[in-house]
Amino acid sequence: MNKWGRAPAGRIAYVNGRYLPHAKATVHIEDRGLQLGDAIYEVTNVLDGQPVDEEGHLDRMERSLREIGIAMPMGRPALKLVMREMIARNRIANGLLYLQVTRGAARRDHVPPKGPLRPTLILTMRTQDMAALAARMENGIAVATAPDLRWKRCDIKTVQLLPNLLAKQAAKAKGAFEAWLVDEDGFVTEGGSTNAWIVDSEGKVVTRDLSNAILPGVTRRIILEAVRDEGLGVAERKFTVAEAQKALEAFLSSATGAAVPVVMIDGVQIGDGKPGPLTRRIHGLYARKAGIKS
Ligand code: PDD
Repeated sequence: MNKWGRAPAGRIAYVNGRYLPHAKATVHIEDRGLQLGDAIYEVTNVLDGQPVDEEGHLDRMERSLREIGIAMPMGRPALKLVMREMIARNRIANGLLYLQVTRGAARRDHVPPKGPLRPTLILTMRTQDMAALAARMENGIAVATAPDLRWKRCDIKTVQLLPNLLAKQAAKAKGAFEAWLVDEDGFVTEGGSTNAWIVDSEGKVVTRDLSNAILPGVTRRIILEAVRDEGLGVAERKFTVAEAQKALEAFLSSATGAAVPVVMIDGVQIGDGKPGPLTRRIHGLYARKAGIKS
């Protein structure tokens, strides 16, 4: 037992009302999330035992569910309790909390059954490698571009991540940490699991405008608010890979790391090849806005 609560052995998952050791946590073989990818998810950072940007993630979770016609599996206050219980039972002060909701289990058919299904709710948790994150912040990371092969509703946080993971796998094979996905017109949409940012030649902080082409990142929104509050120049617009390679700075954002410096794009060094000063400042502004220590 420590200050994060009870102390069962091993990692604990939550599935449909039960807290279970990972090895015992299972879903039905006909679960539509497994069979058809009929499911959405969320990821929140947990720092000092508290979920970060919690309301933003739960707002987006509700929106994703609404867009594909799945009911919230439980009310928001109850879900928040489950999140806290997961943090306590896993005794993880700094980590990542994953929430997944599938349409539920039913005999396999593309068309969901008429009657209401009980959605499957899954929560899992893992530690975040804080040293690795600190190293990325210190040294910056490389990205490799890849064609954006995803569907046309990337604004929904679906568990259907095959194009994302293949692009990230290809990027990793090239020694890069993240893939930047590029649309048919040569513009960067976003990262495989992050939003993409540059500081353009005028010193403006630029990220792609919201549409069905990207996920509305919770961290993205908070960074934009923080940067605007500070009176810095901002533009929500498209940018090409060539513009990004000539940018003053570049970075990426997600719940797993806000404003992580990008120092190389497809082997081309960004600026002087070191994390940019504005990126560092934005990281601090985000942390202040999100109420966390940077
Ligand atoms: N990914 N774009 C994509 C495609 C993402 O998957 C994510 C998050 C983001 C950033 O969103 P946010 O700031 O709300 O985390 C942008 C999570 C971390 C994941 O899949 O693990």
